[in-house]
Amino acid sequence: MTIITPSEQCQTLLDQINDKAKADLSFSEREFLIECILKEKPKKVVEIGVYRGGSSAIILSAMDTYADSNTHLYAVDLRSEARIYPSDPNRDPVRESTGLHFKVGYNVEEDFPHLKDRYTLHTGQTIHHVIDEIGGDIDLCFIDTVHTVPGEILDFLSVLPYLKKDALVIFHDTNVGAPHFIVNLLLISAITGDKYMPLPNHAGQINANIGAIKLSQDTEKNIFDVFNLFGVPWRYDVGEEEFNSLVKHFSRFYPSEYIDILTRARNLYASDLGYHNIDLRWWYPPLIKIGKNPFLLLLRKITNKIKKMLSKKYNN
Ligand SMILES: C[S@@+](CC[C@H](N)C(=O)[O-])C[C@H]1O[C@@H](n2cnc3c(N)ncnc32)[C@H](O)[C@@H]1O
Repeated sequence: MTIITPSEQCQTLLDQINDKAKADLSFSEREFLIECILKEKPKKVVEIGVYRGGSSAIILSAMDTYADSNTHLYAVDLRSEARIYPSDPNRDPVRESTGLHFKVGYNVEEDFPHLKDRYTLHTGQTIHHVIDEIGGDIDLCFIDTVHTVPGEILDFLSVLPYLKKDALVIFHDTNVGAPHFIVNLLLISAITGDKYMPLPNHAGQINANIGAIKLSQDTEKNIFDVFNLFGVPWRYDVGEEEFNSLVKHFSRFYPSEYIDILTRARNLYASDLGYHNIDLRWWYPPLIKIGKNPFLLLLRKITNKIKKMLSKKYNN
């Protein structure tokens, strides 16, 4: 394990941008993200999970300290519009008075326009749909999406074949301390490579809530360890079309016996959950788990109807 501590350059940079960057990251998590970038000086970076674009703005600002014409951040989010959630520390009263939605990535466009030239934002798709367009030779990848299984396991496996052998992969929410939000803790433990960690920043924290893995030649050799995580009970399903598309993508890179683990896990867990629109799921968790009780099954029928209606409303 390598402990990452913020340099003076990191602290100066964060002081300059901290108030403007509307990232879902604590101060020390921001320091970690910046310090990793200053240390690795990646040229080609991919970010999965953008929301307001606050972490994009932080990554771009750090890259700006050494950038040349080849330095670029490709950011990908499942949604093109996102919704403010009640506990959000970045709640913006002006936006909320005019409606609950905002454009994904707006923080870069509005508050860091001088960095836009080095930024390409793909919205409305998961990473495996756009990774061929982005291309390979990726130096660094920051992943911060669903936090529940299968979530980031799918994201990581989708992007891995496009990463350099010694790329750095950073995960956020690696120690949320809530039973279902465990996927990034599992990933940071299961992926082979040197672990970059900040020190925990308050008493009672088991480990920091952000961390990274410096990949090596052995990462792909040990990739069974990551596929095996599909055996952890799923919290949501991705839907038939997305699943088939993922299997097609994975079949290009991984042995069929590993992909069979994914298929068997979905067969087992997805039927138990009913169908959950991943998009809706992310901000409406109470609808996730209904179970098998007849009363709850009826409730599921009703909630599915509501979900379909809401889904139509918010996806249009
Ligand atoms: C926690 S927020 C990201 C916060 C952002 N990294 C920051 O710190 O400012 C999670 C985002 O991931 C997106 N998301 C959820 N599942 C996704 C997936 N499988 N692929 C890409 N984006 C996803 C959501 O739409 C949401 O905008």
